[in-house]
Amino acid sequence: LRALILVGGYGTRLRPLTLSRPKPLVEFANKPMLLHQFEALVASNVTEIILAVSYRAEDMEKELSAEAEKLGVNLIFSHEKEPLGTAGPIALAKELLLQSDEPFFVLNSDIICDFPFKQLLQFHKSHGGEGTIVVTKVEEPSKYGVVLYNKKGRVESFIEKPQEFVSNKINAGIYIFNSSILNRIELKPMSIEKEVFPGMARDNMLYAMELQGFWMDVGQPEDFLKGMCLYLASLRQKSPEKLYLNDGVIGNVLVDPTAVIGNNCRIGPNVIIGPGVVLADGCCIKRSTILKSARIKEHSWLDGCIVGWSCVVGRWVRMEGITVLGEDVIVKDELYINGGQVLPHKSIATSVFKPQVIM
Ligand code: GDD
Ligand code: MG
Repeated sequence: LRALILVGGYGTRLRPLTLSRPKPLVEFANKPMLLHQFEALVASNVTEIILAVSYRAEDMEKELSAEAEKLGVNLIFSHEKEPLGTAGPIALAKELLLQSDEPFFVLNSDIICDFPFKQLLQFHKSHGGEGTIVVTKVEEPSKYGVVLYNKKGRVESFIEKPQEFVSNKINAGIYIFNSSILNRIELKPMSIEKEVFPGMARDNMLYAMELQGFWMDVGQPEDFLKGMCLYLASLRQKSPEKLYLNDGVIGNVLVDPTAVIGNNCRIGPNVIIGPGVVLADGCCIKRSTILKSARIKEHSWLDGCIVGWSCVVGRWVRMEGITVLGEDVIVKDELYINGGQVLPHKSIATSVFKPQVIM
């Protein structure tokens, strides 16, 4: 089986993190986002993954090739000269995709869930249509592609980012297609959501499969943290032994074994601590992700934050309100930061009371 992953977007909504690393390489739960997808695909017998890339491909190639080798999967980069949208990349990879008559998976790179690839293949083969999209329920459907389908799962219409409420069942960004879909796609910038799905629905060739369990598009900070909470809750169900247990830990917390945690810290609920992170004594961290090699000094208090790689947060600092520190930011002692988005390599010496970008 083959899969094509769309990894071409600029990741602007996840700035300042994506100023240092392409979105698919930003670690979610201590692993590059894309690696969650690689692992799930390999577990479902996918042997070849095509990465559709249009932007900062070099950064990704080195790191991901090494990971693919470890997983024993063949990784192929399909480079776009100009961004081809969400459908064009499928036409660009035509030759690779036509090497077998098996259907192939296509997925967005910024989503996290219990990937249902085996079930998807089975359902797809059972209905005989040309494509199947995975759908999930959300509270704010206007940010997504809304899918209307009948009891058998046949899609009646697909509306990308609707202005008015039509349904709360949305496209989860996970598909399986027969190779005949290539007849609907041209080698030019094209949107699968706006230019391909509506036609497939009209031809009665598109089906929807409802996702069980959690789902989140983690391509922006607030949703990244929501997705983190859902992921940790699911980990609690599936493999509780992976969660961190210690004095002062509350709820679901994941800590890389190379992190160093001081005395009398209070961590959780919903915290992920990356490799090489150092938390000094008496820190209190809730609902946050601390990325690789960051240091938080004594008695700081964090709630709703993403702390970037190699940051240094001073003593008695208080940060909250979806504060995102880019790579290598220094926050001086005793500051208060509320909803700051701090650009990489910046040193902050005054408090930030209202949400804003600090450059
Ligand atoms: N190769 C390539 N080239 N990939 C691209 C390009 C491009 O020109 N443009 C976007 N992508 C990739 C992104 O990297 C991402 O993985 C995926 O295509 C979707 O793009 P987003 O920018 O994240 O779209 P969205 O989140 O607004 O909406 C999409 O995802 C929702 C689910 O999260 C749509 O598919 C919606 O229908 C869906 O509900
Ligand atoms: Mg997205």
